[in-house]
Amino acid sequence: MKKKLLINNIKLKKFKKPLVCLTAYTTPMAEILDKYCDVILVGDSLGMVLHGMKSTREVTLDMMIMHGKAVRRGVNKSLLVVDMPIGTYEKTPKIALKNATKILKETNCDAVKVEGGMKLYKTIKYLVDNNIPVMGHVGLLPQSVKKKSDYRVKGKDYLSFNQIIKDSISIEKAGAFSVVVECVVKDLADKISQRIKIPTIGIGASNKCDGQILVTEDLLGFSEKPPKFVKMYDNFKERTEICVKKFVKDLKNNNFPNIKNMYRVL
Ligand code: KIV
Repeated sequence: MKKKLLINNIKLKKFKKPLVCLTAYTTPMAEILDKYCDVILVGDSLGMVLHGMKSTREVTLDMMIMHGKAVRRGVNKSLLVVDMPIGTYEKTPKIALKNATKILKETNCDAVKVEGGMKLYKTIKYLVDNNIPVMGHVGLLPQSVKKKSDYRVKGKDYLSFNQIIKDSISIEKAGAFSVVVECVVKDLADKISQRIKIPTIGIGASNKCDGQILVTEDLLGFSEKPPKFVKMYDNFKERTEICVKKFVKDLKNNNFPNIKNMYRVL
């Protein structure tokens, strides 16, 4: 399906089952996910997951473009969304357009994602008016988190509950085709999903969201201490270590490489 039509169908909620969304940062992972996902996000979570950074605040435009290109090589059918990193869209709509255009042009992705609500109304509208499809992101905004204790569930008090609803409405009005709702109380996620027409994509939000997203490495069990909202389907960190230990043992016992792993003249 043509990607513009796909975006429109998502925006109009022309789907029957919840939207399946996952993150990818590399070609091999993208190739696997593309068979099953509606949306693949090159999230700036790659700063922590792949590059060992403390937060997404250190991630640069060049990093997002490099991983965006890699993921593009593995994606055919899913919608490919690339996160705009911190510092590339908040100052003025014009700067946002320049950087979003660069991301789209260099990675050939289908849309960008930005974090924030009402404050970003003009920016999102400007991007959409200039033919850049935008996914919003409300609730916990990792780019705004300066210390670990700020990783907290949002919407627990009346003020923030209402503010996040206003943020979501603003994003819809600005023309975004969907919105990620991250780490908020269930009642709030439910309210947003009722109140706005564009699909909500939950992460630590509610089963009533129109879709769900997780960081793929979290569900595979690569993360040290994943948040409560993650369901770990396996423990590939442990499995990797077991394989590495076997390799080391083989080497120490002179069992690798063996005759099957070597080349002969004849
Ligand atoms: O950066 C990211 O991976 C994200 C998702 C967790 C929504 O923004």
